[in-house]
Amino acid sequence: MGSGGREHALAWSLAQSPSLTKLYAAPGNPGIAEEAECVALDVTDHGAVIAFCADKAIGLVVVGPEAPLVDGLSDSLRAAGVPVFGPSQAAAQLEGSKGFTKDLCARAGIPTAGYVRTSSLEEARAALARFAAPYVLKADGLAAGKGVVIAETLADAEETLADMFGGAFGGAGAQVVIEEFMAGEEASFFALTDGTAIVPFGSAQDHKRVGDGDTGPNTGGMGAYSPAPVLTAELQARVMAEIIEPTVRTMREEGNPYQGVLFAGLMLTADGPKLIEYNARFGDPECQVLMMRLQSDLVALMLACAKGELAGTEVSLRDATALTVVMAAKGYPGTPEKGGAIALDNVESEGAKVFHAGTALKDGMLVANGGRVLAVTATGANVTEAQAKAYAAVDAIDFASGFCRRDIGWREVARERGGATDTSA
Ligand code: AMP
Ligand code: GLY
Repeated sequence: MGSGGREHALAWSLAQSPSLTKLYAAPGNPGIAEEAECVALDVTDHGAVIAFCADKAIGLVVVGPEAPLVDGLSDSLRAAGVPVFGPSQAAAQLEGSKGFTKDLCARAGIPTAGYVRTSSLEEARAALARFAAPYVLKADGLAAGKGVVIAETLADAEETLADMFGGAFGGAGAQVVIEEFMAGEEASFFALTDGTAIVPFGSAQDHKRVGDGDTGPNTGGMGAYSPAPVLTAELQARVMAEIIEPTVRTMREEGNPYQGVLFAGLMLTADGPKLIEYNARFGDPECQVLMMRLQSDLVALMLACAKGELAGTEVSLRDATALTVVMAAKGYPGTPEKGGAIALDNVESEGAKVFHAGTALKDGMLVANGGRVLAVTATGANVTEAQAKAYAAVDAIDFASGFCRRDIGWREVARERGGATDTSA
């Protein structure tokens, strides 16, 4: 289920599985259509999805994005006897409610920023006194990645709180979380779980800002690479023991077993790794780089999660670096220009994989049809090499109304060069 670059990467990987007989994508996109039969299904109409699954004898549903998870699609499918990869509505609160996750961290002793959760503007204002600038203010619910504001001054923080409670984020802002600011470098860690067993799925780092040098407004992600060398084996072991394992255990013990992929956004602080937030699905574009490295059978792994049979399995990743550069339509993350022509004819020779996100076919021609349009992905021995290959492929693409960052992977490229660099976010 889904239509982005993440879902193209998932479809591409699922299609390589020897156990796959037939792959449908709803709604899919022109890239996904190379791997799957695309069907028009309204994900909010659970009855229609169940009827489709019954009609086609679907053996596994993979839910790509967060919205259908938070909307309870997995519960509806499971109740109808359809195996599904993705958490229940209750478990998807780990992404759907920032306050839920903070409270869980407090109960389970998981390292994260100190916080106050409140649904009262008065209380929120008063709570600011317990924090220092910069103030981290979060709308509780899903806000398409825009629900977090880092306010430099008390006046800005008060104004932001008034906006949040005033409905600037819709229902997502009815509750607000105020957090202690954590300094450090950010990295992401992924793990599969069936609710009990947990299998690590590697690390990645992304680039959220739209402009080179990490400037300009936040986006869904302009590029990523995997692995993230800053997340050393030792740090990954700590993340598993101090963050992922207590989360999965507490969710299970409290009656909300989490099944699917846990995507932990981490801050690597002077006191060790701390949880920034959880996502209840793969990242976009982090998924694209993870799938480029995956050697295991994704169908088998996801079915094992769905059926509670993950124990004893493992995720095997190629010992190479994958890097993806997102090509977006001009205007993104504001209003993207639609309909711009895209020519991909010369890319294959560059040895890169182009995942489609917001693309469409118009009179047989590939055009832009969304904000993030392509994720141009390559592998190499290190970030420097993968970056060079990815940009060689980007330069072979003809997409006049598109743009991309030219510096994806800059922190690692600088470190690989051996230059000292300020890597704080
Ligand atoms: P989130 O949607 O919770 O991942 O937040 C978006 C971004 O805001 C993160 O990727 C961080 O860059 C930043 N952020 C969130 N919480 C904090 C925090 N407590 N301290 C510092 N930065 C944060
Ligand atoms: N790239 C960040 C996310 O998928 O949430």
